[in-house]
Amino acid sequence: MKNIDWNNLGFDYSRTNAIFLAHHKDGKWSEGELVDDNMISISVASTALHYGQQCFEGMKAYRAEDGRILLFRPEENAKRFQASARRILMEEVPVDLFLKGVKEVVLANSEYIPPYGTGGTLYIRPFLIGVGHRVGVAPAPEYIFCVFVMPVGAYFKGGLAPVNFITTDFDRAAPQGTGQAKVGGNYAASLLANKEAKDQGYADCIYLDPLTHTKIEEVGAANFFGITAEGEFVTPKSPSILGSITKYSLLQIAEDIGLKAIEDDVYIDKLDRFVEAGACGTAAVISPIGAISHKGEKHVFYSEEEVGPITKKLYDTLTGIQFGDLEDKHGWTLEIGK
Ligand code: PLP
Ligand code: COI
Repeated sequence: MKNIDWNNLGFDYSRTNAIFLAHHKDGKWSEGELVDDNMISISVASTALHYGQQCFEGMKAYRAEDGRILLFRPEENAKRFQASARRILMEEVPVDLFLKGVKEVVLANSEYIPPYGTGGTLYIRPFLIGVGHRVGVAPAPEYIFCVFVMPVGAYFKGGLAPVNFITTDFDRAAPQGTGQAKVGGNYAASLLANKEAKDQGYADCIYLDPLTHTKIEEVGAANFFGITAEGEFVTPKSPSILGSITKYSLLQIAEDIGLKAIEDDVYIDKLDRFVEAGACGTAAVISPIGAISHKGEKHVFYSEEEVGPITKKLYDTLTGIQFGDLEDKHGWTLEIGK
C-alpha cells in the first residue's frame, strides 16, 4: 500500500487490494468472488458499451472513533440498484449478493478506509453491466456485477465552504425517462452541461424540470434542498430526479431537529424564500450553496463564504450518525467489522 495523505483526499480513482465480481449467465448468478485486479474483459458486442445498459450505486464506509467500520443504509442502495436495473431491463442483483459484495470488498480493503477524524471515507462503487454478444437493441444475454472502492475526501472542492451553481438549459432526463434510475446515460447527458458550468467558474449546474423549466430538479451529482425563514426544510419533488438516500435521511433529520420537512415544487424564480440552501448526496455529503445564477441574475442564500447555521446542524447530525458519534436512533448504520 502506498503512502496516502489522508487529510488531502479528493475524489480521484486509486487502485486498492481487490474488487468483487459476480456473473449472471444461463439464468443464474454466480456466488461472486474477490479478485486482485482492476480490469475486466468483456465482449466488444456488450450492450453496456453500445446502448448504455448499465447502472451503478454510490455508497461509503466510515471509520468510527473506536475503529468500527460502518455502512450507512446499505439496503436502500441495494433496493435502488434493483429498481435501476428493472428500468433498463437488466438482471436484478439479489439484495444478499449486493450486500455480500459490498461487505467483502470493504473488508478486503479496510486499510484504505481513511482514519477517523480526517473526514475521509471509503467510497464504494457497485455497478452492473450488460455483457455477452448482442448487437440488436435488446437486453444483454449476460451481466457482470462488480464492486470497487477508493478512499475519498470532499467531492465539491472546499467541503463545508459554500459553492456556487448556475442553471442550465440542458435537461439531464426526460419527464417519463430514466431520471429516477441511477443509470450511466443520465450522467453522459450531464457532461456537457457540467463542463459549461465549470468553464464559467461554477462547481456544477442546476437542472430545471424538463417539462416547464421553471422548477429546480437537482444538481448533476446531488439533490437540492433549501431552508426557509419559517424553519422549513424543502427539497424538490419530481419523477425525474434520483431518489437520494441522503435527502430522505435529511428529511427525517430535519424533523428530528425541529424543522418542518417538505418535498414540494421549488420554483427557480422564488429563491427568495430560502435563507440557506445546499446540495446533498453520498459523494457531496452536504455542500452549502453560496449562490445560484439564473438567466444572468445571481441569488445569494446565506453567504458565499460561510456555511449557514441550519445547514451546519444538518451536516453535523448526518455525519455524526454516519461516523458513529451520535446515537443512531433510526437504525441507519450497519457495523461490518473493526
Ligand atoms: N442526484 C444525483 C444525480 C446523484 O448522482 C446522486 C448521488 O448518488 C444524488 C442525487 C444523491 O443520492 P444519494 O444521496 O443516494 O447518494
Ligand atoms: C454519489 O454521490 O455516490 C454519486 O453517485 C455522485 C457522483 C459521483 C456520480
